Amino acid sequence: MIVTEKQLQESAQFLKNKGFAAPEIGIVLGTGLGKLVDEIENPIVAHYSQIPFFPLATVEFHSGKLIYGTIEGKKVVVMQGRFHLYEGYDLMDVTYPIRVMHQLGIKSLFISNAAGAINLDFKKGDLMLIEDHINLQGGSPLAFRNVGEFGDRFVDMLEPYHPKMREQLKTIAKNEGITLKTGVYASVVGPQLETKAEYRMLKIIGADAVGMSTVPEVIVANHLKLPIVAVSVLTDECDPDNLQAVNIEEIIAIAGKAEPKMIQLFKELIKQL
Ligand code: HPA
Repeated sequence: MIVTEKQLQESAQFLKNKGFAAPEIGIVLGTGLGKLVDEIENPIVAHYSQIPFFPLATVEFHSGKLIYGTIEGKKVVVMQGRFHLYEGYDLMDVTYPIRVMHQLGIKSLFISNAAGAINLDFKKGDLMLIEDHINLQGGSPLAFRNVGEFGDRFVDMLEPYHPKMREQLKTIAKNEGITLKTGVYASVVGPQLETKAEYRMLKIIGADAVGMSTVPEVIVANHLKLPIVAVSVLTDECDPDNLQAVNIEEIIAIAGKAEPKMIQLFKELIKQL
């Protein structure tokens, strides 16, 4: 997919016509982490398949939708279901919704995902605040010809995750009695899980968690100078010396169990912004 300003404007205009008026915060919900949508007051729903120029949602993702409404008195736009490289989308497709939410006027972005724990001090069901990342997806969502129309080509990655919002989340977690680990997230393409040798490599290069999303969206948000926070729900422990077969139903079940803590963190941060 090639991104143009005109497409973005058309996508955003469609949503504005549906009533998506001046959202302040964009939120991306990861696999098994859809329940935050129940907290949205006066929701307006746009299915991905209806939005002009949105990547086509796959069959598995027919439930993918963008939801606008209010949480804690703030106007939000929430992506329930994201696009992944492993579904056959390219990096421009995967990040197109971020550009559309920016076009709608969001001022900050919250991201969640399900990830495997590489750091074995972390346990399944733990939450991890992402402090930095390693891009192992073999490409960049900024590597296209007309990227200069949208921002700089050479984007700094000094603080890809907003320091102040990170501190706020840590304080909220402490006050609410929620354990929030911190660490480095490595993104791979998937959809196959990692080999034992790959898990050993990920540990050596400094990853605390591994997943198949988030990094492209974060790179684009930095391109757009959108402050971001991102939280991983750790759904399995990736111990190369004692590797268990991963069961996707179990991953989703563990994400669902940890989800209320993530919702609590995000809601409180929304209140504070
Ligand atoms: N790798 C390993 N475990 C995981 C992943 C992954 O990408 N996502 C969720 N659990």
